Amino acid sequence: MWEEVTDPEGNDLTATTADFTRAQVASWCASRTAQDERLDLAVVDTATGEYAGEAVLNEYDAERNSANFRIALRGPAWYGRGLGTEATRLLVEHGLRTVGLDFITLGVLARNPRARRAYATAGFRETSRFVEDGEDWVEMTIARSWLSPDYPVLTERLALRPLHPEKDVDTIHSWRSLPEVCRYTPFDPQSREAIAERLTDPERTRSVIDAEGQVISLVVERRDTGQPVGDVVLFWHSAADGHAEIGYELHPDHAGQGFATEAAEALLRLAFDGLRAHRVSARMDQRNTASAAVVGRLGMRLEATYVEGEWFKGEWSTLLVFGLLEHEWRGA
Ligand SMILES: CC(C)(COP(=O)(O)OP(=O)(O)OC[C@H]1O[C@@H](n2cnc3c(N)ncnc32)[C@H](O)[C@@H]1OP(=O)(O)O)[C@@H](O)C(=O)NCCC(=O)NCCS
Repeated sequence: MWEEVTDPEGNDLTATTADFTRAQVASWCASRTAQDERLDLAVVDTATGEYAGEAVLNEYDAERNSANFRIALRGPAWYGRGLGTEATRLLVEHGLRTVGLDFITLGVLARNPRARRAYATAGFRETSRFVEDGEDWVEMTIARSWLSPDYPVLTERLALRPLHPEKDVDTIHSWRSLPEVCRYTPFDPQSREAIAERLTDPERTRSVIDAEGQVISLVVERRDTGQPVGDVVLFWHSAADGHAEIGYELHPDHAGQGFATEAAEALLRLAFDGLRAHRVSARMDQRNTASAAVVGRLGMRLEATYVEGEWFKGEWSTLLVFGLLEHEWRGA
């Protein structure tokens, strides 16, 4: 750590102006384990076992359930080898999942592109800018549950956009009124009035997720014609488990062209990149072979078969549960 506090580049980039003696550094290190409002960790390069720097969660804010993050590697020889990004990811995972913080924020000098890049790769987003002591700073934040996509979300042929509570009543009715669409959905064919009533509930037209238990519903349109072809949902079940679930339904006129797969793939992207989900699942009736084919094409694995697991529309139904993990998706 002595090397770190005497590294001019590191001190410049962390806006550290104080001079420390070796004794002060030694006593600082010795007092770290006694802190119960902050967590100061050594970053160790597992390839060599060497101390590579420090990563810290401090400034715990009980009201906001948040903390500040800071990191400094030991010196230039340790920069730019991916250690900072990896250490940031690890401590952020610990803070959000194990400690259960809702937010982690940090301040970084605008003229520190390497740090900003490492933080962005670890999932932080720029939330504000400010000037302090004549320097431009960027505030970055990462949240436990947070998805606020730039709409429309585009794929090659489709655009996914939020549901409008009034204008989309007829859109949704055009497929939710059809018995073949509702054969395996939890609801029966719906009247226009029932759909209009449902859409007055703001929870059913969410376009942003900022807490677990929420769901976003999006209309899927063809980009070439603007024609709505179906809708999709993304549930955020558990921030602690990082569990999201996807669902989709398509107007039969637009089936068989790979639209559901393309839209569901966009949902996986929102879940893994946006929500930082660990697992995405999908459930369906075993007889719904078209739906099973969609998740199969996306590389989702059949993880459970609940034989006659549900009393569904007057008969026993066998439920399939598919799952995909973040690292599997990134490696796919
Ligand atoms: C900031 C710090 C922790 C980052 O850790 P690191 O191990 O050096 O960074 P990584 O190698 O993991 O990632 C750096 C990223 O920035 C990119 N990068 C490097 N220099 C860059 C530049 N000048 N412009 C844009 N991107 C740059 C790298 O290509 C890499 O991105 P990639 O993963 O997409 O290739 C480390 O450099 C450090 O301790 N710096 C000094 C102290 C400091 O700045 N602390 C932060 C204060 S807020």
